[in-house]
Amino acid sequence: MDATFRGCAKEIMEVWIIYGGDIESTDDLAFEVRRFMSEGPKMGVDVKVYNPGQFDLLVTDEERDSILIDGSPVPLPDFCFPYLHHGDRSYFSLSIIRQLERLGVNIFNTASTIEMVADKLHTHQVLAESALPTPATMLAKFPVDIDLIERTIGFPVVVKTLLGSNGSGVFLIENASAFNDLMELIGETNPNIQIIFQKFVANSKGRDIRVFVVDGEVVAAMERRARDGGFKANFSTGGTVEQFELDQAAADLAVKTAEVLNIQVAGIDLLFTEDGYTICEANTFPGFKGLEQACEVNVPAMIFNAMRRHLDKEFGEIPKTVKFEDLRKKEASSNE
Ligand SMILES: Nc1ncnc2c1ncn2[C@@H]1O[C@H](COP(=O)(O)OP(=O)(O)O)[C@@H](O)[C@H]1O
Ligand SMILES: [Mg+2]
Repeated sequence: MDATFRGCAKEIMEVWIIYGGDIESTDDLAFEVRRFMSEGPKMGVDVKVYNPGQFDLLVTDEERDSILIDGSPVPLPDFCFPYLHHGDRSYFSLSIIRQLERLGVNIFNTASTIEMVADKLHTHQVLAESALPTPATMLAKFPVDIDLIERTIGFPVVVKTLLGSNGSGVFLIENASAFNDLMELIGETNPNIQIIFQKFVANSKGRDIRVFVVDGEVVAAMERRARDGGFKANFSTGGTVEQFELDQAAADLAVKTAEVLNIQVAGIDLLFTEDGYTICEANTFPGFKGLEQACEVNVPAMIFNAMRRHLDKEFGEIPKTVKFEDLRKKEASSNE
């Protein structure tokens, strides 16, 4: 790259947020998207929010692939932040992200990370391989061998749908007889559903810690507690939240989890064990309404700063008014 581009501060960074909900509504993550839109201009970030339905993907063997928005080609952004709520987590959305990756756009978080983390068993496989603590977890096979579950995991057992989120699809089954009834119901109604069985971490019943990690650093952490004696601590199921002072062990565990799973914007959930912590799950589309209320942090600002750091590393420091997109084009033409 031309060295004359180094040495000055960059003024404008263009960030696309990919979000398919109604921004002005109470939809999942709509509040957060509005936060990005209000913080961006204060930091010299041009935030554009696009719905996955606005994209068309053109793949050719002649030219470079292109991205069309509302039917027309558009200049690429400096950074893309897929922030997919439940309704958006489709093959189509992942394909948009993959295409942007192929076109050289920086992405927090990448399609392969999103896919891996959406699969709770895959997540635990990767964590276990890295010798990080996770509760014993087994993929269900029908007909289910209850004795095997009893021997390997024990009761009570947590049953989760493989791809669930926000607390839906997570159940605590107290004993073998209730477990048997549930398996019969599933066998009758939906034998193809993918579910996992997991050791119940009793010490953490109804509470967990959500650690928000951005680009390898802990932004803030909160303790979540279930209301009404339930065992799920999700904020979205009505749990209460409170700032949590992380000790070094918990902070290191959360950062390591995000690193191993390659998540740049991560919500890491930890459970309390008798002598420390174990990893409950990781999230690639963490909300932060509760976290900002509880901890007085500015999450969009932390994320935009991390994006800038990445671009500075990639291009050196950039003169004002020059867009990274222009540099990328210049770099591409000098490589031809
Ligand atoms: N193995 C477990 N032991 C104890 N509590 C658990 C366990 N797994 C999940 N929970 C509780 O259930 C909540 C939801 O589970 P989680 O796996 O995070 O699913 P979701 O993706 O729906 O948030 C967690 O936040 C935690 O409070
Ligand atoms: Mg969770």
